[in-house]
Amino acid sequence: MVLKVLVVGGGGREHAIAAALARNGDVRVYCVSARRNPGIARLASGIEIRKETDVAGVAAYATSQGIDRAIIGPEAPLDAGVVDALEGAGIPTAGPRWAAARLETDKAFCRDLMQSHGIRGCPLYRVFQNPADAVPFIRDHDGDLAVKPAGLTGGKGVRIMGEQLDREGAIAYVRTLSGPVVLEERLIGEEFTLQAFVDGTRLVYMPLVQDHKRAYEGDTGPNTGGMGSYSLADHTLPFVSAEDTAEARSIMAEAVAAIRRQGTPFHGILYGQFMNTGKGPRVIEFNARFGDPEAMNVLPILSSDFPEILCRITEGSLPSRVEWEPLATVCKYLVPEGYPDAPVSHQPLALGETGEALVYYGTVEEAEGGLATLSSRTLAVVGKGPDLATAEAIAEQAASGVQGRVRYRRDIGTAALLSRRVAHMEALR
Ligand code: AMP
Ligand code: GLY
Repeated sequence: MVLKVLVVGGGGREHAIAAALARNGDVRVYCVSARRNPGIARLASGIEIRKETDVAGVAAYATSQGIDRAIIGPEAPLDAGVVDALEGAGIPTAGPRWAAARLETDKAFCRDLMQSHGIRGCPLYRVFQNPADAVPFIRDHDGDLAVKPAGLTGGKGVRIMGEQLDREGAIAYVRTLSGPVVLEERLIGEEFTLQAFVDGTRLVYMPLVQDHKRAYEGDTGPNTGGMGSYSLADHTLPFVSAEDTAEARSIMAEAVAAIRRQGTPFHGILYGQFMNTGKGPRVIEFNARFGDPEAMNVLPILSSDFPEILCRITEGSLPSRVEWEPLATVCKYLVPEGYPDAPVSHQPLALGETGEALVYYGTVEEAEGGLATLSSRTLAVVGKGPDLATAEAIAEQAASGVQGRVRYRRDIGTAALLSRRVAHMEALR
């Protein structure tokens, strides 16, 4: 029997989602996105160019195509209530309704939920409804702070004292903001990502991944949407102990239980971004969807049937485990020169010899005569192999062959970077 699945969103993550769905020959993939993704277009039975936040339009398209299930890639449509609209139209969706997506879309809601339910891993924090009221607190606070707009900022709104800002810079930054602000103690450690399939009650965890937020090699430069990521063949990370992993899993399970107790169960993909500190994992944030790029590490090694998992998420009947291939992965994002501050766009782009690498299209345009860059992450190459070095070499070879005004981080997935992470963690413990 044919299953028609709608993917909402059109970036690298959604290309990886569409590719994982299309591995099942009985699935027909449909996509709604603001821009035509050439990779998704090749896989899909139907493409609708439409703003992903036009939730009534998304639901109407899904109904017109007889869609059976939907999955939401990015956070903006979750915040606009796309799941409520799709489910209102009778289409079960692997993604949380608006009220449960607030775990991601409202950082103040997330921290208050953690605190009121006594969930471990919550840093000290304060919420200010009016950013001006945060100024005296920043001035008098003893220690570095993270300054976060409470709402969505595309991953680019957070500023950290002691990294991008000094105290006066933090005060100046908070004065430029409007709307509620969260201030948190600055956490020191190594970041990792833990994602889980969630069916309202049960969580099925995915392999650990490490993303790289900073634009330049050696973790310097401004924060980006994520420059690339890696995972290891045994699905662990060497600077995250078995106890740390168990603690991170338990924190995520408690968050799922808390949101359920509030009467708004979470169905979808829960993404935990953790800082592994000298005292164990702390929650940097939760996202209510796959990570971009982290989806591109886990989905290519998922050996269980992905469409089946999505159906089970919506039905509240996830199996207790799913299967992953014992392979390492390395994902490198090519981004326009100048990204994120002043990206050069509309430049010609050509893939070279990609070898065994998987290629996922991000924000690119298929113009006459070939591909062209736009102003966000362009395309991702993913290597997978029995060990990190093999996966990295595959990704690196494909990335280095791309021609155009794009760049990428060569250090992602290298042994040198990994040993720096391990040494940092050892110094903290
Ligand atoms: P976010 O947009 O919440 O993912 O934050 C962007 C980046 O800011 C994260 O990847 C972290 O590197 C950093 N960050 C966020 N919160 C904190 C914190 N409390 N302490 C230290 N770094 C943080
Ligand atoms: N990789 C970070 C994010 O998807 O938000």
